[in-house]
Amino acid sequence: MSELITLTVDGVEIKAAPGTSILRAALANGIYIPHLCDHPDLTSVGICRVCLVEIEGRRPTVSCMTPVEEGMVVTTASEDLDQTRKVNLELLVLNHDYNCQSCDKNSKCQLQELTRYIGLDEERIKAMRKPMLDSPIDDSNPYYIRDMDKCVLCGICVRTCDEIQGDGCIDFAYRGIKTKIAVLGDKPIIDSTCVTCGECVARCPVGALVPRNAVEPTYEVETICPFCGCGCGMVVGARGNKIVSSRAVSGSPANNGSLCVKGRFGLSFVNHPDRLTKPLIRKEGELVEASWEEAISLIADKFGQYKGDQYATIASAKCTVEDNYVMQKFTRAVMETNNIDHCARL
Ligand code: FES
Repeated sequence: MSELITLTVDGVEIKAAPGTSILRAALANGIYIPHLCDHPDLTSVGICRVCLVEIEGRRPTVSCMTPVEEGMVVTTASEDLDQTRKVNLELLVLNHDYNCQSCDKNSKCQLQELTRYIGLDEERIKAMRKPMLDSPIDDSNPYYIRDMDKCVLCGICVRTCDEIQGDGCIDFAYRGIKTKIAVLGDKPIIDSTCVTCGECVARCPVGALVPRNAVEPTYEVETICPFCGCGCGMVVGARGNKIVSSRAVSGSPANNGSLCVKGRFGLSFVNHPDRLTKPLIRKEGELVEASWEEAISLIADKFGQYKGDQYATIASAKCTVEDNYVMQKFTRAVMETNNIDHCARL
């Protein structure tokens, strides 16, 4: 492992691995530098310009794009920095839809946090305000909504789609004030190659990408995704006994902060009124509810009537490895057949 680099930030000596940006080194050591377009899961691109810092002997520079150097002396707050950050922030909000009260991201929005931290002159914003893009809200996807009037062009969604999902279905389109994030041909997202993983939705710092019908949970529980056998770490949010949200566990060994469409948007089956919660037994052509004891003894009786290749097992990806091991053992050793298969996708 290469040696750590020592630098001073706001008079505090900190250490960071070579190649680490000043921004990430400072944040890891509890020193806040305002930022918007940087995300720990993605490459840095230096778009928003609010992470400016002063480095001794140099002009102010964006800390997310500047790697730490031995002996560097960094200042994160000064009158000049405040002023420049304010102008850069103004440029980000000039044509941003300011209707925070009705926005799903209200109080969880990074742009709101920045405006509180840096401060904005409302009169100046009013005077310089540009017309909004007035893009129609794209609600073509059944699980999330795109509102490009709330987009600040940080590019986090573009990099997420490219670097994490490997899909690349969105990119910057048009030029100048008309610039926006769009799919090929500026069509609704449903007409693109989007696989609805929701990774971009999870990382959007503003209200441009939000889950449809988002409900704020009253409590959260860390668990494992109940779908396929990957075992992705997730945090499920609930109100009472009803699941209302899910998000990935950052750094989880199986999924490292990502979820697929099923884990992110597919948990409504848990509370669905059509979900079977009791076994059904066919009696005189009709399926009727039965107790577990009745169902299990019926299955045991039926098992006794078949042998060898008359019998087959379909195991499930929803079961644990141990459950599936026992099923194949039972199929081979007790039922004496190799007819066992597994539904790997659910
Ligand atoms: Fe550095 Fe946006 S966070 S330029």
